Amino acid sequence: MSDILALAPRFGSNSGQSLTRRDGVAKVTGTATFAADNHPDGLLYAVYVPATIARGTVTHLDVAAAKAHPGVVEVITPENRPPLAGDPDSKPFMFAFRFEALQNNTVRYANQPIALVLAETFEAATEGARLLNPLYDAQQPRMGLDGDAPFTPESGGLGLPGTTVHGDIDAGHAASAQDIDVTYETPEQYHNAMETHAVVAQWNGDHVTLDIPSQAIVMQRGAFGYYFGIPPENVTIRSPYLGGGFGSKAIINGPQILAILAARMTGRPVKLMLSRDQMFGPSGHRGATRQRLRIGIDTDHRMTVLDHNSLATTSTFDTFVESAANASQGLYAAGALRSAHQGVRIDAGTPGPVRAPGEAPGSAALECAMDEMAYKAGIDPLEFRLKNYAETEPGTGKPYSSKALRDCYAQGAARFGWAGRPLAPRQMTDENGMLVGWGMGTALFAAPMFAAQARAVLRPDGTGLVETAASDMGQGAWTALAQIAADSLGLPMDRIEFRSGTSDLPDAGIAGGSAHTATAGGALHAAGTDAIRRLAELATGDPDSPLYGAGNAGVIARDGRLHARDDDTRSESFADIITRAGGAEVEGKGSASRTAEASAAHAMYSHGAVFAEVKVDPDLFQIRVTRLVGAFAAGRIINPKLTESQLMGGMIWGISFALHEEARFDQRTGRIMNADLAGYHIPVNADVSGLEVITVHEDDPHVNPLGIKGVGEIGITGTVGAIGNAIWHATGTRVRHFPIRIPDLL
Ligand code: MOS
Repeated sequence: MSDILALAPRFGSNSGQSLTRRDGVAKVTGTATFAADNHPDGLLYAVYVPATIARGTVTHLDVAAAKAHPGVVEVITPENRPPLAGDPDSKPFMFAFRFEALQNNTVRYANQPIALVLAETFEAATEGARLLNPLYDAQQPRMGLDGDAPFTPESGGLGLPGTTVHGDIDAGHAASAQDIDVTYETPEQYHNAMETHAVVAQWNGDHVTLDIPSQAIVMQRGAFGYYFGIPPENVTIRSPYLGGGFGSKAIINGPQILAILAARMTGRPVKLMLSRDQMFGPSGHRGATRQRLRIGIDTDHRMTVLDHNSLATTSTFDTFVESAANASQGLYAAGALRSAHQGVRIDAGTPGPVRAPGEAPGSAALECAMDEMAYKAGIDPLEFRLKNYAETEPGTGKPYSSKALRDCYAQGAARFGWAGRPLAPRQMTDENGMLVGWGMGTALFAAPMFAAQARAVLRPDGTGLVETAASDMGQGAWTALAQIAADSLGLPMDRIEFRSGTSDLPDAGIAGGSAHTATAGGALHAAGTDAIRRLAELATGDPDSPLYGAGNAGVIARDGRLHARDDDTRSESFADIITRAGGAEVEGKGSASRTAEASAAHAMYSHGAVFAEVKVDPDLFQIRVTRLVGAFAAGRIINPKLTESQLMGGMIWGISFALHEEARFDQRTGRIMNADLAGYHIPVNADVSGLEVITVHEDDPHVNPLGIKGVGEIGITGTVGAIGNAIWHATGTRVRHFPIRIPDLL
C-alpha cells in the first residue's frame, strides 16, 4: 500500500453512502443536455436511408426526386461521397469494427445505410429519404445458425474467443459415472438504449466538435481522428449525459461517421439521430448462440469434465463471436475443462459487446445444464454447486483475489427460503392452483481494469476540482466517482467540482467491462491523494503552520482540513495553507491500471447467487417470475443505492433474456420483423415483482488499491439460468432455448 493512503482516509465520509444520483434532477426536469439536444446555428438535419434487403446491391436511387424536395440540401450516395482518410473496412483499433459509410453500393445487411439526405428540417430530410425509392439486385440472405458453414475464429482480439483446454478432456469423459449432453440456444438480441445513437458534428477548419454519446470518450477521439485524417487533439467530444449504452456506445458506427463527413462536405453543422428501427442494424447486437454442454460427474458428484462448445452468429464482413463457452472457465472445479467457439457468418450487422458479452448467454446455458446434471444425480442443485466449489481458479489454479461466493449462496438461499425445496419438478402449487417452481444459478463476471488518468486541484478557497473523462450512462458513475474523489481530497461532496464527460479531460478509460468505477475511481483517488500530499508538504514545511514538522507522523485530510495524525487538535484548513503559501492552486495527478504481474497473480471476479420463483398457469402456461433474490459479492461498495440499482437492472435484463427478448429475422428477406419497442419485448413493471438484492460483504486486498470490483453486468448472469430452472421445476418441461414462451410449455 502506498504512502498516499496514509494521507487520505481510504473510505471516508462520502464513499459508502447511498447518495442519490447527482444528475437525477437534471434528467427528470429536462435540463440535462443529451447529444441530440444541441442545435448550433445553421444546423442541417441528416436522415439515413436504410437498406430493405439484407444481401445484394443498390442499383438505383432517385436522387433527382429527393433533391427536388423543398428543404433538401444534399444527398450523399456512394457516387458523391467524399473520401475518408481511414478505410471503414480497416480495423485500426481493438474496439474498431468494420462499418458501412457508403464506400460502395453493396448491401451487407438490412438497415445498413445506403444514402444520407441533408435538409433544413428533419421533416424535409425524412421526406427526401423516402423519395430516393431504392431499387436493388437482391440475393437470398444467409440467416440463422445453420445459414453457413461454421468457422473457428482465430483467438486474440475483441470478439475472437478461441479454444481453452485445461486437463485431459477425454479422460474426464471416460472417468464419469454419470453425464449429460445437452444443447441450448439463445437468440439475437439488440441493445436498445433509451437514447438512440446520435451525433451533432461541427467543423471549424480541421477541428471537429462532436456532441455524441460515448462510453469511451478519449479513445474515440483518436478513432474519429483516424477516419478523418486529423490528430486526436483536433477532435473534441462532448458526452455529458448518455441515455444508456450497454456496450454499443463504445463502438463507432457508420451513420455517425457519415454525419460527420456530411458536416465537412457542406460546411454546416449536421445532426443525425437514429430512429428506433435503425438501432437494429448498424450499431451492434448480441449474436445468436447454440451451445452444447457435456458434463460428467463421478460417484461423489464431483465434475470430471465440463465441456462447453458454442456456435455464434457474426456478420459476413467482420468477426465478433460471442464468447459464451468461456462462462465455463473460472467457476466450477471440474477435473477437465474445455471452452470452444465457432462462428457462422450471416447477412446481419456485426455483433458487438452487449452487457455481459459472452457471459450472459454462456451462463444461461451453463447454469441450466448444471441444474440438469444435479437432477440426474439426484442432489440439490445448490449442494451440487457447493460440491464443485472452486477454491482456486479452475484450470489455472490461480488464487482468487477474493471470493465470497459461499456467503452469496448462504445469504441468498436463506433469504429466499431455499431449504426443503423438493428435488422433483411439479411438486408445488399455490392457493390459486398455479404451478410453482424454484430455481437457482451462480452469477459470475470478471473484474477487469482499463487504464485511466485523473487530475485533482485544491483551490485557495478550500474547494476542490477533479477531472477525468468518465462516462455516465445513467448508472450513476458521475455520483460514485465524485464520492471517491471527494474522499481522496478529504472534502464533502458539495465542496468539490467534478468534471467529466468531455475529451479535454484526462482519459478515464472505457466505461465498459464493469470496470469504470474501479478504473476511473482508482485514477481519481490517486490524483486526489497526490494533491493532498503536495498540500501536506506545504503545511508541514512552513514554520507558521500548526502542522509544521508533523510530516513524519503523517497528516490526514478531513472536512477541508489537514490534521496531524498523532494529534488531532493540530490542524489547519486547506484554504489557510494555500493562501499562506501564496494562493497558487495545488495540483495532483494520478493514474490507475492493472499491471501484468497483478493479473498473473490472482484470478479476479465478482460473484453472486440468484434464486428465482416462478408461477406457471397449468392451463394457459403463462409464466410469471414472482420472486427473485440475488446475493452478490463485488468488493468494496462505493454507493449501496446505486449498486443495488445496477444489480436490479441486471436481474431485470435476466428476466428479459429468459422470457422476453428476441430479434426475429424474416428468413426470406433478412429483415428484423420486430425492430421496435412494441415487438421487441422487454419486461415492463408488471413483469417484475419481488426483486431483492443482497450485497455481500467482501474485502479484496488484491483487485486494486480501493478494493473495487464491478456490478454492471453480473446481474444478468445467474438470473437467466435461475428462471429457466424454476420453469422446469414448476412444470417438468425442460426448455433448452431462450426466451421461454407459452408455446414451449404446451
Ligand atoms: Mo459493456 S458490454 O461493457 O457496456
